[in-house]
Amino acid sequence: MRIDVLTLFPGMFEGFLTHGLIRLAREKKLVDVHLHDFREFATDRHNSVDDKPYGGGPGMVLMCGPIFACDEAMRQAGRAAGLPGEPRRIMLSPQGRPVTPALLEELSREPWLSVLCGHYEGFDERIRLGLKPLEVSIGDYVLSGGEVAAMAVIDGLTRMIPGALGAADGARNDSFSRDGAKLEGPQYTRPRSFEGMGVPDVLLSGNHAAIAAWHEDQALKRTQERRPDLLDGTTKDTS
Ligand code: 6GU
Repeated sequence: MRIDVLTLFPGMFEGFLTHGLIRLAREKKLVDVHLHDFREFATDRHNSVDDKPYGGGPGMVLMCGPIFACDEAMRQAGRAAGLPGEPRRIMLSPQGRPVTPALLEELSREPWLSVLCGHYEGFDERIRLGLKPLEVSIGDYVLSGGEVAAMAVIDGLTRMIPGALGAADGARNDSFSRDGAKLEGPQYTRPRSFEGMGVPDVLLSGNHAAIAAWHEDQALKRTQERRPDLLDGTTKDTS
């Protein structure tokens, strides 16, 4: 999958792209990420990318010009690299539709994604109308920019690409995976005793059926305590 990121802060992605799962997925050629700074497409002598809102109001609004020009350059680069048609465009904003596991799964199957990160008070509405991105949000809180949300989305969809995780089915028991939207229960590793705290006997018993039942029960209890909405069916998957 090719992912083109349009951002004012490409440097924010450097650490993200060179560590952990994303780094490995890039090395395995499962994802090919390209960063574009849309300030490079500004046309005035101050390299402006934002301006005051028509009608007044607080803050600044991202202008059409640099983003449309950057999108066009990105599209040409993708075409030149052999990608067909158009990228599936994503725009990060607090007004977007909530990111869900089903949406990440769907995005993980796209050959070509572009991800537009906003700042300031938001985007000129004509960016939405012209580029027709799928607008997504990672939660009901406001971040100072779309970059951190873009990294969350890219991380979440990359680990759903077959082959991205170390173990073949490493994602299967994750919280929110397809078979059973439950939180994961507690886990333990060595040492057997740490500062007076032990390990539940069942985990040391060697009884695999009992261990599996314990994990299932713990996951259920934790979900009941922390996220009863996942069990009572009131969380709608809105994607
Ligand atoms: Cl996608 N962007 C911004 N700026 N804030 C957010 C968000 C996105 N999702 C939640 N808050």
